[in-house]
Amino acid sequence: MQQEKKRNSFSGSIGFVMAAAGSAVGLGNIWRFPYLAAKDGGGLFLVIYLILVLTFGFTLLTTEIAIGRKTKQSSLTAYKMLKPKWGFLGVIASLVPVIIMPYYCAIGGWVVKYLIMFATGSGFETAADGYFTGYISQQWEPIIWMAVFLLVSAFVVFRGVNHGIESFSKILMPILLLLVIGIAVFSLTISYTDADGTVRTGLEGLKIYLIPDFEGLTVKQFFTTLLDAMGQLFFSLSVAMGIMIAYGSYVKDDANMVKSINQIEIFDTLVAFLSGVMIIPAVFAFMGREGMSSSGPSLMFVSLPKVFAEMGPVGNVIGFLFFAMVLFAALTSSVSIMEAVVSSLMDKFHLTRLRAAAIETVVALIAGVVVCLGYNGLYFNITLPNGSAAQILDVMDYISNNIMMPVVAIGTCILIGWVLGPKTIIDEAEKTGHKFHRRSLYQFMIRFAAPILLLILLLKSLGIITFI
Ligand code: ALA
Repeated sequence: MQQEKKRNSFSGSIGFVMAAAGSAVGLGNIWRFPYLAAKDGGGLFLVIYLILVLTFGFTLLTTEIAIGRKTKQSSLTAYKMLKPKWGFLGVIASLVPVIIMPYYCAIGGWVVKYLIMFATGSGFETAADGYFTGYISQQWEPIIWMAVFLLVSAFVVFRGVNHGIESFSKILMPILLLLVIGIAVFSLTISYTDADGTVRTGLEGLKIYLIPDFEGLTVKQFFTTLLDAMGQLFFSLSVAMGIMIAYGSYVKDDANMVKSINQIEIFDTLVAFLSGVMIIPAVFAFMGREGMSSSGPSLMFVSLPKVFAEMGPVGNVIGFLFFAMVLFAALTSSVSIMEAVVSSLMDKFHLTRLRAAAIETVVALIAGVVVCLGYNGLYFNITLPNGSAAQILDVMDYISNNIMMPVVAIGTCILIGWVLGPKTIIDEAEKTGHKFHRRSLYQFMIRFAAPILLLILLLKSLGIITFI
């Protein structure tokens, strides 16, 4: 009881929505979503993603926020409080952000470096062939920027829920949205004539992004797109990594949880969609269809700098604004990843915020150095069970995203759907007198659809299912 009294809470709905949307909107939206959309046939991916947001995403997000608010605990202790025998799930859930934080900071450090390059007028150097690989395989510089990114996140977390996370998100999120809209509009106005005299426009690129291409679509491709969209949704909504349970635990008991959840989903999906509008038309106009097939980190760190360089002098300004926006998105997310660990340490071991933040900073710093050296002294040729070549960063991403997060989500669905019953969450959402509109959908999703889809995703990631 005493602990409940002392627990911080967001000042109101806006503070909570901005903080949670800040967590959700991150590298996943800006860098991974457009690449997957381009790879999986644009429009089809978008339609599937949207359906999943409204069903699957809504179910997991509601469940985690409700668990947090009901127990007033973060993931490490929340599951145990719900059902003592299920405490192990809390342990796995709280290990996920411990694994994600170091590599998120390593990528955040790359963003800082690119931002500095554009801020100092040297942005076009990043467009040179081999620049990105050359940079990340250096010994010291990536470590320094990773550490800077980590320390800024740690400072915000140390400042606490209201003066740190909430204030930080309330300032950065509106700026981020304005930047995304501005760059997306600019991207649509592009018209480029290449060396062969072919004219390509941003609007043509937008059509490729928006219009589903069903030509030659196979069942296997459809399932690949479905599972890609589902994996993306997980990461993007910050579910199954302890974050939304921690943030839910700071939501006041009289707040309209369902309304806030809808707003978080809309914000996250809007930014993901607009990131596609920002990136895909520009890459198409300057590089054609082949440019769009570049994948993973290379889309943001290799293809886009080339696009900015092609734009001429204005490209330096657009590049600067773009990387500033990515940095804001990444910082509000890394703050939430760190908070998930810090709040778990505080709840479990009754540590002060300063001490918990210091412990997590040291852990993330050491692991972050290892991740950075994964492209230098610790470079190994690793092959993942799904056949892709990997470095330390990819291995950590694979273990957290492809294995631990589906396991946490499946366990949560079983616990809520079958052991405690969906009513646990519905009652929590309705205790303020606000109606839970998608009630039947929620019951169906948490008991049947979500765990089955998640199991397929997990088995596919492990290389056990190969036919889809
Ligand atoms: N949800 C965060 C992102 O999309 C982690 O990057």
